[in-house]
Amino acid sequence: MPSLNQIRQTFLDYFARQDHEVVASSSLVPQNDPTLMFTNAGMVQFKNVFTGAETRPYTRATTSQKVVRAGGKHNDLDNVGYTARHHTFFEMLGNFSFGDYFKAEAIEHAWNLITRDYGIDANRLMATVYIDDDEAFELWKKIAGLPESRIARIAGSDNFWSMGDTGPCGPCTEIFYDHGDHIWGGPPGTPEEDGDRFVEIWNLVFMQFDQQPDGTRLNLPKPSIDTGMGLERVAAVLQGVHNNYDIDLFKTLIDASVEATGVAAEGDSLPSHRVIADHLRSSAFLIADGVTPSNAGRGYVLRRIMRRAMRHAYLLGAKEPLMHRLAPALVAEMGGHYDELKRAEATIVETLRQEEESFRRTLGRGISLLDEAVGDLKSGDVLGGDVAFKLHDTYGFPVDLTQDAVRAKGLTVDVDTYNILMKEQKERGRKNWGGSGETAAATEWFAIKDAVGASDFVGYDHLSAQGHVQAMVLDGQSVESAVAGDLIQVVFEKTPFYPEGGGQAGDTGTVDFLHGKGDILDTKRQAGELIVHLVEVTQGRVKVGDKSELHVDADKRKTTRSNHSAAHLVHAALRHVLGPHVSQQGQLVDAERMRFDFSHGGPLTAEELARIESEVNTVILQNAAAATRLMTPQAAIEAGAIALFGEKYGDEVRVLALGQALEGPGDYSVELCGGTHVARTGDIALFKIVSEAGIASGVRRVEAVTGEAARQFLLEQAGVARSLADQFKVPVSQVEARVEALIAERKRLEKELGEAKRALAVGGGGGAASGPEEINGTRLIARVLEGVGGKDLRPLAEDFRKQVGSGIVALVGKLDGKAAVTVTVTADLTGRYNAAELAKAAVIAMGGQGAGGKADFAQGGAPDDSKADAGLEAVKALI
Ligand code: SER
Repeated sequence: MPSLNQIRQTFLDYFARQDHEVVASSSLVPQNDPTLMFTNAGMVQFKNVFTGAETRPYTRATTSQKVVRAGGKHNDLDNVGYTARHHTFFEMLGNFSFGDYFKAEAIEHAWNLITRDYGIDANRLMATVYIDDDEAFELWKKIAGLPESRIARIAGSDNFWSMGDTGPCGPCTEIFYDHGDHIWGGPPGTPEEDGDRFVEIWNLVFMQFDQQPDGTRLNLPKPSIDTGMGLERVAAVLQGVHNNYDIDLFKTLIDASVEATGVAAEGDSLPSHRVIADHLRSSAFLIADGVTPSNAGRGYVLRRIMRRAMRHAYLLGAKEPLMHRLAPALVAEMGGHYDELKRAEATIVETLRQEEESFRRTLGRGISLLDEAVGDLKSGDVLGGDVAFKLHDTYGFPVDLTQDAVRAKGLTVDVDTYNILMKEQKERGRKNWGGSGETAAATEWFAIKDAVGASDFVGYDHLSAQGHVQAMVLDGQSVESAVAGDLIQVVFEKTPFYPEGGGQAGDTGTVDFLHGKGDILDTKRQAGELIVHLVEVTQGRVKVGDKSELHVDADKRKTTRSNHSAAHLVHAALRHVLGPHVSQQGQLVDAERMRFDFSHGGPLTAEELARIESEVNTVILQNAAAATRLMTPQAAIEAGAIALFGEKYGDEVRVLALGQALEGPGDYSVELCGGTHVARTGDIALFKIVSEAGIASGVRRVEAVTGEAARQFLLEQAGVARSLADQFKVPVSQVEARVEALIAERKRLEKELGEAKRALAVGGGGGAASGPEEINGTRLIARVLEGVGGKDLRPLAEDFRKQVGSGIVALVGKLDGKAAVTVTVTADLTGRYNAAELAKAAVIAMGGQGAGGKADFAQGGAPDDSKADAGLEAVKALI
């Protein structure tokens, strides 16, 4: 029985033999595509190739593409675990023709592969075609020898595939497998088609149109082919099982979950194990592609997937976080083909562990909130949809968990209101979702690239260079000329300007045109290989073809280089000091500073920060030469270079080695990087961390400066220390001790002051006011105390109570315009007087709301201290 890994390989090998380029899966996060949340089909990475905007050195390709269908047009999340074939993550095997072969060859290849290489019984196969696609109908008869009874014509979206609301689309033909009459269901197009007997295994799309935002369809330049076969489905067929979750890969994952929980995969627990296995895959692959759990966009979908699985872990009775313990089993199964999974293993484990730990905290709080909400309800009542929504939104409770939890008490949930609130929230989410940007003129840039070719970057070795204006864009349109005052985007055949990328800011500088001058305000990459300069024309004019001298701002580039190299050193130092789970989550380096975001559970201690800073400065002092090598990404990663998850690398990558390892031979830092860097580590001169903070759950950020900026920072700090020393009239080395002494002294004085105030209040005042008065035979001490707040009244009341022996003490303290009241009744009188009632009367007389306490002691407060006397009078009136 072939394994999943073998089935994938057989597919890729077959098409490689048919002259298809074997292309690696693209990231789950679509590059340069603002319309998609996740890569949802094999054709996504080829979208621009189909429309003709991009060309590649091949016209046939084959892939095993990572796909996530959760959120967006193709969303399978809600069905996972409860059906035999839905997954949030799956692998899509595909072959593609970009204007090369079309229907006949596509059908022939598909038929040959499944009936010969896979050896599937032809008698169990049938096909569907789009309702009016006579050509495909005839081809199935001719090539596969299918009888007409096993070719169904289908109208509607089942046989017309589109990527999303816009983009390439076309009619399709689908191949179905008959799992046998022991399973209920009928062929497609029959009333029983919703049964599970006939299962679609392969979709061949005849790509012909490019759907526009207004719904119209333009013809693609050439008819093309895009096919997609779910690897898990075909594995189920080849492994003789009906349910995808029974294939070898899922068996392994479910076994791991059974072992970790001690709960067998049967009965009510089976769906839980399946959801866990499925969601483990999508979570791990998304994390490996750089997505981190958050409350918006992609990160929020990841969080929902993770928490769904974590709820099931909880349902299975797992006492400790479970998901991260299953990650190694997944990496062992799938890391062979998907190297990124292996590289990200530590990050995957850490991210899963942290999320589950924090979800378990809210899970408990959510249950308390639910208990509270359910408290007064009786059997037959309805729990508010707002509670269910809050449980979902704040505590991560899916609504079905809430329904389950209240069912035992005979309650139901107002699902309608819940749904309305969810819908509103989804709309808010959609509005917040901005995609990856880059909508403007993407087609324009591809057209320019086709016309002028890739730009040559010469900025690793030069800061100035000569080039010619090859293309100019003004307001999103190609133009031939521009004049002073215009803000244009310009492409030269070669340039020393670094285009923003890999977290390094684009270069700025100046350009001398043949008949004019301009300031280069920014530089970016477009259409993959074009370097585009944002130029403000300051003098004269410029036209396409003009010779131009380009000058990078050398000072800025120098500090940017230092900051970028320092970021690599920080990355290495973080991993040494904190551990290998640290992975880069983002970076920004420009002429001012470096900012480095990384995965880590909590704040760094002062000691950790000091060690990182010191390690980086030690490597700077080595003054070792930086070494750059060019190699394939694979070779680089094998050589131990740190590659970034979710980053797209070309065929050849630059690998930068910085510094010497602090222990043993080898380099200190080795990373894949296209940025510009120092020649020797000593060029960085000095490194200083200026801040460390959390920016999202599990993600920290350090900001640092280098060279002159670091020196200035230290000078400023030294200046502050010196000025303090001058004020204290001690050497800098004694400032700390002085400040400590001052703090201690202040504490002592505050204490003394409090005591003095009390002594004054109790004993002071003189004359009649100093002793108790007597009203109707009850001794009373009633005082207004200036400058005394509520918390100081209690000890004072104790003192007065002793003084009164048997009686009542009523105190009003005045502080900051407000009044605080304390009433004490000695134990022998609590039968006659209630301190709480007396205090309340006082507070109300002073315009406040009420007081709280017991029969012997009560406190309250009023907003206005001018009625203090009235408060005491109110107490007296009650005696
Ligand atoms: N794009 C089609 C699908 O996803 C075929 O690859 O089904």
